[in-house]
Amino acid sequence: MSNTSKPYGQSASIWMSTAEFNTTPLVDETDADVCVVGAGIAGLTTAYLLAREGKSVLLLSDSAVGGGETGRTTAHLASAMDEGIYHLEEMHGADNTRRIVASHAAAISAIEEIVARERIDCHFTRLDGYLFDSPDDEAPTDTLDKEYLAAQRAGLEVSWVETAPITGYHTGRALRFANQGMFHPLKYVNGLANAFQKRGGRIYTGTRVDEKFEVGSPVVIHTMDGVTVRCAHLVVATNSPALNFLEVHTKQVPYRTYAVALAIPRDSVAPALMWDTLDPYHYVRVHREDDGNDYLIVGGEDHKTGQDDAPEERWAALAEWTRARFPMATTLHRRWSGQVMEPIDGVAFIGRYDRKHHNVYCITGDSGQGMTHSTLGAMLITDLIAGRANEWEDIYSPSRKSMSGLGAFVKHAANTVRQYADWLAPGEIASPDEIPSGSGAVLRRGLHKVAVYRDPEGGLHEVSATCTHLGCIVQWNDGEHSWDCPCHGSRFNPVGVVINGPAVENLRPVHESAVASAASQDS
Ligand code: FES
Repeated sequence: MSNTSKPYGQSASIWMSTAEFNTTPLVDETDADVCVVGAGIAGLTTAYLLAREGKSVLLLSDSAVGGGETGRTTAHLASAMDEGIYHLEEMHGADNTRRIVASHAAAISAIEEIVARERIDCHFTRLDGYLFDSPDDEAPTDTLDKEYLAAQRAGLEVSWVETAPITGYHTGRALRFANQGMFHPLKYVNGLANAFQKRGGRIYTGTRVDEKFEVGSPVVIHTMDGVTVRCAHLVVATNSPALNFLEVHTKQVPYRTYAVALAIPRDSVAPALMWDTLDPYHYVRVHREDDGNDYLIVGGEDHKTGQDDAPEERWAALAEWTRARFPMATTLHRRWSGQVMEPIDGVAFIGRYDRKHHNVYCITGDSGQGMTHSTLGAMLITDLIAGRANEWEDIYSPSRKSMSGLGAFVKHAANTVRQYADWLAPGEIASPDEIPSGSGAVLRRGLHKVAVYRDPEGGLHEVSATCTHLGCIVQWNDGEHSWDCPCHGSRFNPVGVVINGPAVENLRPVHESAVASAASQDS
């Protein structure tokens, strides 16, 4: 479980002007009732809620607070499910869908309560959400009609409006969902970190945890610096848990998603969440910076991680889409990308994994609703650790045996198998001479694929292109300057250090990789 929230990325989101919340690394052996790994919204909320219950809680992270995907979200708080409520009904039935929707609504309310209780200045706002058809849809669909009926069955306050509230652009009829929300995610998690510490919680950043830990009571974990921690419960709240025994990598699909923030005149766009019915869909909100300037944040252009990377084109397409619908949008202020783990049945994996690991818990599968999934996940796990029943436990169980996502599972598995064909393909380039400064590419050297990075000073860095998780060939991500694995979404920095699970080991030096390969051929 080493890593997974390390703040690596070439781009910077609009939230990242907020000061980082850093503490020192853990240096002394210690124990706790609960050890939480990961300092994003999932880990911090879990730690905070457990501290409120009087538990002794230790939070470990190799990055700053919010340094992973929490700082790369657009921070929509929605109970109007991005998966499509009617689609969730098809997979989970009407009763379970009502419970799923209720859990996200409860998460928004929990955030609202925490913001008020801890006086966190994070721009939390209740507002309406609007879903509209896109004229880019090739054929008109009945998506809105189906969604309206399903939303009513799920207990949401939903109504028809003639258009989404965009001045100067008519979307056509749209659905309005009441009681959605938005906030500034880094200000929120920094506030959570302060509140957690005030209740005696301990946070150590710059502390990477070894995935090899001793199961039992207590759970014994070790940091990469050789420090031992004993805890009654272990919560893994990293975006993609590098706990291979969980095998969640077979049940969720990694996507890259993109965002742009464009300047707009103050108050020229109504404060609302908006999204369309395209696949992948666009999602829109407004944010007012501390200097009083307004920005329109638009996300979309999702694609499978490590497949079809073309970040410049994707950011340009988002800006073009925005200007066509929001003529008041002017200069591009920020652009960034993030990673989303899409569970195959649309519902996150949260809770106790299995009987053998009864005191090990995970929160993953954020889907497009990471803020609410993380918060309801923290609420659920707090109940489990406190010995209370939780009404959502069966829905989100990581070991649930559901057939509802079987089609998606088969598709994901087939796509993964296709990625292994990269082993046989030629390299992207014939020689490192073709790589410009600050970029990378994969080349073939005999039987091996080599990931070659040329740093801004012109120096070359070579590592094996074989992902240390299950052996797919990584691809260069020019938007974030990382090596991304197309199979299950592991990511590595330009010189091969792992920054996102499920891989736990760095890309290997080229000579070691060749030796390992020769040994496996001999055996
Ligand atoms: Fe599984 Fe790379 S992430 S093979």
